[in-house]
Amino acid sequence: MTETAEREKLIEVKNLKKYFKVGKKAILKAVDDVSFHIYRGETFGLVGESGCGKSTTGRTIIRLYEATDGEVLFEGKNVHAKMSRKELKEFNKKMQMIFQDPYASLNPRMTVKDIIAEGIDIHGLAKSKKERDEKVYELLETVGLNKEHANRFPHEFSGGQRQRIGIARALAVDPDFIIADEPISALDVSIQAQVVNLLQKLQKERGLTYLFIAHDLSMVKHISDRVGVMYLGNMVEVAESDELYDNPLHPYTEALLSAIPVPDPNYERSRERIILKGDVPSPVNPPSGCRFRTRCPLATDICAQVAPKLREAREGHWVACHLYDDEYKHAFNK
Ligand SMILES: Nc1ncnc2c1ncn2[C@@H]1O[C@H](COP(=O)(O)OP(=O)(O)O)[C@@H](O)[C@H]1O
Ligand SMILES: [Mg+2]
Repeated sequence: MTETAEREKLIEVKNLKKYFKVGKKAILKAVDDVSFHIYRGETFGLVGESGCGKSTTGRTIIRLYEATDGEVLFEGKNVHAKMSRKELKEFNKKMQMIFQDPYASLNPRMTVKDIIAEGIDIHGLAKSKKERDEKVYELLETVGLNKEHANRFPHEFSGGQRQRIGIARALAVDPDFIIADEPISALDVSIQAQVVNLLQKLQKERGLTYLFIAHDLSMVKHISDRVGVMYLGNMVEVAESDELYDNPLHPYTEALLSAIPVPDPNYERSRERIILKGDVPSPVNPPSGCRFRTRCPLATDICAQVAPKLREAREGHWVACHLYDDEYKHAFNK
């Protein structure tokens, strides 16, 4: 038995679908039959171009959206099941989210103290005003800010500091699982590493599990244990981070990787770049069969007819592509 087989799955996403009604009749399939799991204590990176359904997946996992179909299990319990208020509160305490835009996600009229203490108040985690204050000061220290910042307002802070406030707010209820939805995309490059380092330090200290969403594969590589690649509402590849970078199987993943510049100029010159043709099709009217086929350099007839299933092509390495499908791989001259 491999090590991974013994690890506890904190989150299990099973055939998750999230459709949105747009206009009078149209249905937008933002997330369409996505399955994956996240082990306790790991960072699972979720990548893909803008609009492929990463945020919707995160938001449905954390119950900000109801699922259209499928389920999400947290510690084995269906998060979309009917819950009593007490259960719901308990559940909300375990899962927190950090948002991309640290400004829009912080109430401009509230002091930093009240922003951070919101969860403490909701969950009754402080018995007195003094204890509440102390908890807030401790959280500020934890994220690299200090007590003097407590009575200020969000606009008085830089982007990086605001993101630290967002992190402190998430930590206030002592969660097990944090979804970080492009937490550094809006920050200056010089600040990005600091926030990533902080998230990693907190993970180590507190045994946190992360779903780390990003559109940039190079970013996710360093922080993630495993990575999932989404395309137009589907999960097309899942593997351990190093394995995914060393042996990408899906043509889409290869294309994403080839877009990342490498520091070695000789290698940079010699390597083959895969330029994707066209734009991502609309999730209102996705292509038949494999959704990537309209942009795939290797697509054949079968790709328009049959949607490939996610299958384990190498140990722990899953891919949804007919190239690796025993039934159909003969259709390719590869
Ligand atoms: N609340 C919503 N109502 C309608 N469409 C939405 C909503 N949220 C997201 N979408 C659409 O769902 C698709 C996936 O969006 P999103 O999950 O935000 O992608 P990503 O985070 O990967 O950029 C996009 O086409 C987006 O326009
Ligand atoms: Mg998003």
